[in-house]
Amino acid sequence: MAEVDQVIHRRLASKVALVNQISHYIVNAGGKRVRPMLLLLIARALGSDSPHRHELAAVVEFIHTATLLHDDVVDESDLRRGRKTANALFGNAASVLVGDFLYSRAFQMMVSTNRMRVMEILAEATNVIAEGEVLQLMNMHDPDISVDDYLRVIEYKTAKLFEASARLGALITDASPDIENACAAYGRTLGTAFQLIDDLLDYEGSTAELGKNIGDDLREGKPTLPLLVAMQRGTPEQRDMIRNAIIHGEVERMAEIVAIVKATGAIEATREAAQAQAELAKQCLDALPASEYREALLHLSFDSIHRSS
Ligand code: IPE
Ligand code: IPE
Ligand code: MG
Ligand code: MG
Repeated sequence: MAEVDQVIHRRLASKVALVNQISHYIVNAGGKRVRPMLLLLIARALGSDSPHRHELAAVVEFIHTATLLHDDVVDESDLRRGRKTANALFGNAASVLVGDFLYSRAFQMMVSTNRMRVMEILAEATNVIAEGEVLQLMNMHDPDISVDDYLRVIEYKTAKLFEASARLGALITDASPDIENACAAYGRTLGTAFQLIDDLLDYEGSTAELGKNIGDDLREGKPTLPLLVAMQRGTPEQRDMIRNAIIHGEVERMAEIVAIVKATGAIEATREAAQAQAELAKQCLDALPASEYREALLHLSFDSIHRSS
């Protein structure tokens, strides 16, 4: 990970001052670096010492960071990684454009591996993430979307990059198609669990620990699983209150909505859905030989659901 950090800093360089300023601003705020960790652990679990692994780990972190710059603009968020968001500090235009810089820098870097499959996997992932964010935009303020619609958004906007990260770890090790697919399935299920917990923390977490403002999802009228379950299980009055909150983005009703989400067991149901995905992820690891890296991947699936940040 220290080597990945070096690659990240070396590759952020630009002759344009504002690009450097904003990209360093968001990268220096940290982040958990889950996706690069996933790629490296899979590669190491399969015995890889491919020289490309640090570069590709930096690539997936760049793609992730670009999505965050864009996501905070569309979500109108003003806190990320415990700091003001780039859009709050530098404006929407600069954030979108530096996001484009990071995407395209990631593409320059992946070309250096000289492997068409690497480019295919990352081009596909980036494209699907964009579709996921647009799909989610279409679901905003709609209390009638189904759990399947919600899960599709998660698969596209979040699980896809986890899947690509894990798949790349296997690919650069020249793993068999079966092993590569098991690793991809590990990433996909882990990513789904990860986003389910992210959505739960928006109702149950703490802004200080999360480094993001809780309640943002409600303000945006985002129909996430805690609200979908609460509507299914609540009384007609409770259901109407949540429907209205989604339709109008009534963040001022946050305390009442949180009370309903908790009373209906929707927090627990969301956690159980995440746990089920993490369990599936763990089973995928049976395809890997026992090693300290596989152990670390088991811990990663545990940490992804038992987290507060
Ligand atoms: C945030 O991802 C966006 C989601 C997919 C939930 P992370 O929680 O991995 O963000 P950082 O990189 O650690 O800040
Ligand atoms: C995560 O979506 C962004 C992407 C995966 C593109 P969210 O909007 O749910 O994540 P946070 O809560 O802002 O990190
Ligand atoms: Mg967001
Ligand atoms: Mg978003």
